[in-house]
Amino acid sequence: MTPDVLERAILEFDRALRAVAGVHQADRPNPAGGIPEAELGPQEREHAAALMRVNHVGEVCAQALYQGQALTARNPRTRESLERAAREEGDHLAWSMDRIRELGGRPSLLNPLWYAGSLALGLGAGLLGDRWNLAFLAETERQVEQHLTGHLGDLAPDDARTRAVVEAMRDDEARHRETAVSLGAAELPRPAKRAMRAMAKLMTSVAYRV
Ligand SMILES: [Fe+2]
Ligand SMILES: [Fe+2]
Repeated sequence: MTPDVLERAILEFDRALRAVAGVHQADRPNPAGGIPEAELGPQEREHAAALMRVNHVGEVCAQALYQGQALTARNPRTRESLERAAREEGDHLAWSMDRIRELGGRPSLLNPLWYAGSLALGLGAGLLGDRWNLAFLAETERQVEQHLTGHLGDLAPDDARTRAVVEAMRDDEARHRETAVSLGAAELPRPAKRAMRAMAKLMTSVAYRV
């Protein structure tokens, strides 16, 4: 192992630990910034915390996916874009964790499991080559984007702090998808998209509770 590869491996491992432990620091300011806290009922609050737990799990998975893919990407430009997107996913990770705490919730107990599963998927997609790696990524981002749009319809209308975080994440995910497409993502076959959707559905319903 060359020092460069070793250094990268250590950085990635450190990133993994921080993702799973929920102690990641954001590079960009939290989009909820100076927005005042809304008066939420206990049920609204609990629901918002559970939705943010689901989103946080999504971001733990995004860390692992991007790590797996950046490690296997062949084209330097692709790798660079993946790393940039991964840093933005790191912001999402920190923002959603902040919001969970503010709402009095807790992150998923299964985070190490979500992380490991996604890393395996990311490495697997990466081994298929950049075109399929990017295809998987573009579809993931598209589904996350739709999912976040669903949350915006589901959150209390005056919960402006949660909404600001979800909206900012959704805008980033849309950009990540566009980047993946512009880098030459293939179009995934329909059954693969369906399988991904089914898996995401299972994951979100488990993460909502645990
Ligand atoms: Fe994200
Ligand atoms: Fe993303």
